[in-house]
Amino acid sequence: MIDTVGVSLGARSYAVRVGAGLLARAGAEIAPLLRRPRVAIVTDEAVARLHLGTLTAALDAAGIAHCALALPAGEATKGWPNLARATEWLLEARVERRDVVVALGGGVIGDLVGFSAAILRRGVRFVQVPTTLLAQVDSSVGGKTGINTPQGKNLVGAFHQPSLVLADIDVLGTLPARDFLSGYGEVVKYGLLGDAEFFDWLEVNGPALAAGDAALRHHAVRRSVEMKAGIVARDETEEGERALLNLGHTFCHALESATGYSDRLLHGEGVAIGCALAFEASQRLGLCSQEAPSRVRAHLRAMGMKVDIADIPGDLPDADGLMALMAQDKKVVDGRLRFILAHGIGQAFVAEDVPAPLVTEVLAQALRGR
Ligand code: GLY
Repeated sequence: MIDTVGVSLGARSYAVRVGAGLLARAGAEIAPLLRRPRVAIVTDEAVARLHLGTLTAALDAAGIAHCALALPAGEATKGWPNLARATEWLLEARVERRDVVVALGGGVIGDLVGFSAAILRRGVRFVQVPTTLLAQVDSSVGGKTGINTPQGKNLVGAFHQPSLVLADIDVLGTLPARDFLSGYGEVVKYGLLGDAEFFDWLEVNGPALAAGDAALRHHAVRRSVEMKAGIVARDETEEGERALLNLGHTFCHALESATGYSDRLLHGEGVAIGCALAFEASQRLGLCSQEAPSRVRAHLRAMGMKVDIADIPGDLPDADGLMALMAQDKKVVDGRLRFILAHGIGQAFVAEDVPAPLVTEVLAQALRGR
């Protein structure tokens, strides 16, 4: 079964297709977008080994010519040198204004290729074929594209919506367990930010979903994409509601920075820890009951995920050091830290004036647990 979730953005509306076997039928899915039967694919070397052959066979079957560039795998790829390399390769491949570029990979490839498509000939269309859980439920949907610079992550980029997203549930079967669970951090985030029933469902079904149940994976990806599509349609450029998608992210960015964006802490792991901290801060502010942070932590623990700062291996800065890293977060407005807090599970909101000493104390206590 394949589901279609629409992202309603007027003339820039598009479909997110969710289901098993989508990669193998990608030619038929992409063909209606094409003005001539030809695409350029950008992927990474690890994904190319696993999935490029399935994609190119599907394009061949639909009579679509293709060429492909495989960049090195890993976060370090998402910078100026590979942006230049991919963009110049697309020019060499004679991609024209009305052509379509295909991004096959996880968040790094989707963000970088989307940005390249945004600036190539002042904007060409692109298709996202996300191959990680994190990319399927978050980064491939919503049009945020960009690269990292020495000054920070995602500080250079553009809003450029894809023309189609193909989220093939089957490809999740090739993910290492740790990467899958990292992506699951973003899935949990959707329940926590706006859908308590979905969180209830995850509490019941999360372990079987992680163990490989395809129907449960399908449901979790579809529900996550539905939530993201709704939020993006209402607030494409993050003037308000879209900021809720950053639940857990202010803490996460500080922890990622403190761990050097290394595999000591994967992004979704940081999001999960950040969500637990955001609920802890909410409880201390009297915004929600003690039950809420306890449930968040219990579920992450039941999934075998990192829950606390104490679960991050190696040394970390003290609470003041982490606060300083948070102050560099790009979402700082007029020097004030902005947090996504919650009145309960599924009830997140944007809090502009969270007292800094309270956040420092939440961090200090979490660090003391080490
Ligand atoms: N990943 C957050 C957003 O797309 O807004």
